[in-house]
Amino acid sequence: MLEGQVAVVTGAGRGIGRAIALRLAAAGADVVINYYVNQEAAEKTLAEVTMHGVRGHLVQADMKDPAQIRRLFDEVKARFGGLDLLVSNAASGVFRPASELTAKHWDWMMNTHPRAFLLCAQAALPLMQGRRGRMVAVSSIGSQRTIPQYAGMGAAKGALETLTRYLAVEYGPLGIAVNAVSGGAVATESWRQLAEVGTVLEDIRRRTPAGRIVSPEDIAEVVFFLCGPQAEMIRGQVIVVDGGYSLTL
Ligand SMILES: NC(=O)c1ccc[n+]([C@@H]2O[C@H](COP(=O)([O-])OP(=O)(O)OC[C@H]3O[C@@H](n4cnc5c(N)ncnc54)[C@H](OP(=O)(O)O)[C@@H]3O)[C@@H](O)[C@H]2O)c1
Repeated sequence: MLEGQVAVVTGAGRGIGRAIALRLAAAGADVVINYYVNQEAAEKTLAEVTMHGVRGHLVQADMKDPAQIRRLFDEVKARFGGLDLLVSNAASGVFRPASELTAKHWDWMMNTHPRAFLLCAQAALPLMQGRRGRMVAVSSIGSQRTIPQYAGMGAAKGALETLTRYLAVEYGPLGIAVNAVSGGAVATESWRQLAEVGTVLEDIRRRTPAGRIVSPEDIAEVVFFLCGPQAEMIRGQVIVVDGGYSLTL
């Protein structure tokens, strides 16, 4: 269904980004896999992507760095000539109460999440000219609800979701749809910072109406849907994929 389309997925070497890259590849899209430091994982994802018979390409780039973002999209243009799908997924941050966040923590999270999405969307725009462009940002329910120690990430995701709405209005007339997928807890390596991770995830599972924790593939499926023609009239929305967990908060 996405045959012949070119996708960029940031932070696609592992976790949710990897699942998104594989889902888009399974649908026929060529996939540019961005990673930051973990080259081995990214190479593994690349091998899995190409097993679907599509083209894959690895680009190391730090989403906190505007020059590296520009280089990523220059490389996409040189190699593929254009772009159809952008998924802004890369993430890093700190789990701390708001009272313990430093200016450095704040800038790190704002730069990695909303600023990276803004700069990626700007750089992707000329590459999507004359195509049916789709942009999807990966957010988290911590933007709307409070999660212990998630103040900085929650604020960054809140800005990301607001930006999604503005981009949807500005880029819509240019043929580009912009949306976000907001996930509940997904057991990826991002949780390793928390000592009590097992107990926390078990508690979330118990309170989730769907009866289990969200998987990377659950998020990837909705990103795929938003990239396809069925989602044409969905614009600037934040689709929550949390098994109903946030209803219980
Ligand atoms: N896990 C959850 O519970 C959860 C819930 C809701 C939403 N989300 C969102 O889902 C997305 C993916 O999360 P995840 O759990 O899959 O994270 P993860 O397992 O920690 O993986 C993060 C990915 O982002 C990349 N990355 C980190 N910093 C980067 C940078 N500065 N530049 C480029 N790439 C960078 C990493 O690359 P390397 O491998 O090279 O380090 C890795 O591929 C994030 O936007 C996150 O906020 C996660």
